[in-house]
Amino acid sequence: MKWNNILSLLLVLSLFFGCSEENKTSQTAANVPPQNDPVAPEQNQPEPQDPIDQQEITEPQMPADQQEGMLYAAIDNVPVTIQWEENDSVKALHELVKGSDITIDMSQYGGFEQVGSLGQSLPKNDVQTTTAPGDIVLYSGNQIVVFYGSNSWDYTRLGKISDKSETELKALLDKENVTMKISSKNIQSEPLSSDKKLLVAYFSVTKHTKSIAEYISEYTGATLYEIVSETPYTDADINYGDKSSRTSLEQNDPNARPAIASTIEDIEQYDIIYLGYPIWWGEAPKIMYTFLEGAQIKVSTTIIPFCTSASSGMGTSATNLKEAAPSLNWLEGRRFAIGAEKSAVTEWIDSLNL
Ligand SMILES: Cc1cc2nc3c(=O)[nH]c(=O)nc-3n(C[C@H](O)[C@H](O)[C@H](O)COP(=O)(O)O)c2cc1C
Repeated sequence: MKWNNILSLLLVLSLFFGCSEENKTSQTAANVPPQNDPVAPEQNQPEPQDPIDQQEITEPQMPADQQEGMLYAAIDNVPVTIQWEENDSVKALHELVKGSDITIDMSQYGGFEQVGSLGQSLPKNDVQTTTAPGDIVLYSGNQIVVFYGSNSWDYTRLGKISDKSETELKALLDKENVTMKISSKNIQSEPLSSDKKLLVAYFSVTKHTKSIAEYISEYTGATLYEIVSETPYTDADINYGDKSSRTSLEQNDPNARPAIASTIEDIEQYDIIYLGYPIWWGEAPKIMYTFLEGAQIKVSTTIIPFCTSASSGMGTSATNLKEAAPSLNWLEGRRFAIGAEKSAVTEWIDSLNL
């Protein structure tokens, strides 16, 4: 046999024994994943898991309105968010309200705070403190003080109202009395029209204030009452260019009280009164004083002033009216431009959070 024939025979024999099916499979499995192997799709499935691992583990939840450790508050039924301090006084306060809510009757003091007794003492750690609007402190161990202004004294800090601007705090607290409720349950504000009786009392000569009053009544369901002058104002009367016109004379006379044509029945039934008027030389018309001094409005009534004007703001008109009836709860008012949109009125009412 020739050498090249011997070599060819050896090559054929090596191919025959080296590539048996068994060897081919094991080589392929070790190096390249089989493409059409029926076992392969199952290998791509996710690993079976321990049934316990598969369960989504969720913490047991307290109802949203009763989360452990939370302390909620409302002032005159307006919920306020408070960042509470972490100290023994707040812990004790929490213990106190766990059983039942507490309501604190507060009175205005010093033109910068509302203060009221808790009826019992909490642990105190008084330090010299200068307060800012929104601060809530413990005074003398048993008084809660809520600030809309500033004062320096020895207090124990309890927390701070974090969801109200300085203006909103003033509107909420700058009145003779408020009540503060503290609870371990979430406090929802009561809907405006549930049990409150609303009135819109307004005076208007050229009907700009009248249309705002009508929007308010329509939106809130308030009873509408027009303050009508016994002697109607003529065009000559409202001539502000004439120094001797009726309005010029009345507005310059501190004692002027123009008579009202007819009084409103049972005004003491109303809890909230929207009080509307035009701006005359930066102030409310004198007939508004006639109304406030003569009407038997009950002490707890909330008064919300509003006015219309050509360009002036509300100025001191509402604060001066407040002096004529200081025992009522006056909220910050709002001036509307002549022809203000209905939406501006409804947005303002919504923002009051009553
Ligand atoms: C006597 C008089 C004085 C006024 N003084 C002011 C004023 O000081 N500033 C202002 O912006 N508008 C002033 N106005 C415009 C009225 O405030 C404005 O027209 C208002 O909307 C009128 O309200 P009414 O239509 O409800 O009467 C005055 C109007 C009158 C008749």
